[in-house]
Amino acid sequence: MTVSAGRDDVAEEREATTARLVDETKLDDTDPARQAFFANSANPRNAWFPLVPSAQLLASSASPLSALLWGDPIVLYREPVAGTPIALADRCPHRAAALSTGRITTTGLLECRYHGWAFDTEGVCVRVPSLPGDAKPPCAARVATYPAREANGWVWVWPGDGDAAEEAGEPQVPMAWGRVDEVPPWTGYVDLDIDHSLLVENFLDPAHLPFTHSTTISKASNATALHISPLTFTATSVSGRQITPSRPDLPSVILAFHPPCAVLLKFRAPALDALPPPSPPPPSSSSSSTPPSVPSAPTTKFAPFDQTFIAVPTQKGHCRFVSFQRLPFLPHPDAPFWSWVPPLRWALDAWLKRYNARVLNEDYELLRGVQRNLARGAAAVDGRTSVRADAIVAVYRRWWRRVVGAGGAGGAGPPGPGRQRQRGHGVETDGVWFSGWKNVVDIEDTLP
Ligand code: FES
Ligand SMILES: [Fe+2]
Repeated sequence: MTVSAGRDDVAEEREATTARLVDETKLDDTDPARQAFFANSANPRNAWFPLVPSAQLLASSASPLSALLWGDPIVLYREPVAGTPIALADRCPHRAAALSTGRITTTGLLECRYHGWAFDTEGVCVRVPSLPGDAKPPCAARVATYPAREANGWVWVWPGDGDAAEEAGEPQVPMAWGRVDEVPPWTGYVDLDIDHSLLVENFLDPAHLPFTHSTTISKASNATALHISPLTFTATSVSGRQITPSRPDLPSVILAFHPPCAVLLKFRAPALDALPPPSPPPPSSSSSSTPPSVPSAPTTKFAPFDQTFIAVPTQKGHCRFVSFQRLPFLPHPDAPFWSWVPPLRWALDAWLKRYNARVLNEDYELLRGVQRNLARGAAAVDGRTSVRADAIVAVYRRWWRRVVGAGGAGGAGPPGPGRQRQRGHGVETDGVWFSGWKNVVDIEDTLP
């Protein structure tokens, strides 16, 4: 009798948990903020993406750089007089050579290495060496241009609609504490053969830390019951707080997803960043359907910091992981302090890079396996096995299915950019990214 009652309790709790998860992640909600969130981010190409660090795009260099963004090959260089960054499609309209293998002339033209056709910063061909002197280049000899800007130490490129770029204004790193220029972040990047979506959901998933990162940023003994609550939608983000009812000593973390591919993590400092008032401990009965309350004030001190991770979608199954870490307990990277002790700055920079690489490598090993399994038909998120700690990941995947992966299957959501033809860059594609979403397989064609 007792055993059966216990089983009933467990079943009830399971149902309640599932109901809460469904409730928290459902999309057909009448909440105007949720509706605005999905409507606002309907075209993931309409965003600024940090593509190369400013310091790598040298005005003094005659060699342009090549990059990929949403699968588009892009050539980048600086216009030599003003030094402004220029981004063009990396494809010569003559015979499709990669313009990034060419050179920047002293007059600021981009010269193709194949037959020497030269293009101005608007992508117009102004010189064809094989034509007689008085002949004009063919009118169709144009290269598509991308809006490009420089901000926060990066060159940002807008791969979507140019008018929308004008409306959006200047690029800016979204930082959990507000304006980025108040405390300039330490920044860096690494290219990975991991789909950007896997990295995004990994950063939105604090439950993996005690296991995947047991020897770096967490430890096995930190494994505890946790959930993300409440989920808060705005027109440009969804965020939630990590709650660990039985471990008030762990720092409270705010996680936020800013479409299309930025994750913001804010590690709260109890002393500086007030938490809600302490609340009574959660009920011990497992049959309660009331979500655990916010933990009481931590007793352990944690240094405050925040991080912005941008998983730039370069091509299928690959990304450029760009990180911005604001560490107010260190003098910021541009502070005069470092001019007195430059070796310390270099050493710290090197240490941070090495430590970040170590942490990232722990994720990388896991995500390679996930990517392989998804390519073989596994589901990225299965509602039947999701738990409350997966709430924000589930929201992200639903957003992804609607907006990025909506190209193939009919009726899975509103027609997104996945079904639109991309125009203006010389390539027409039916999908902004993957060929289709079959409601089961997520990134089905990420592997060659
Ligand atoms: S392919 Fe570029 S000039 Fe011929
Ligand atoms: Fe991780």
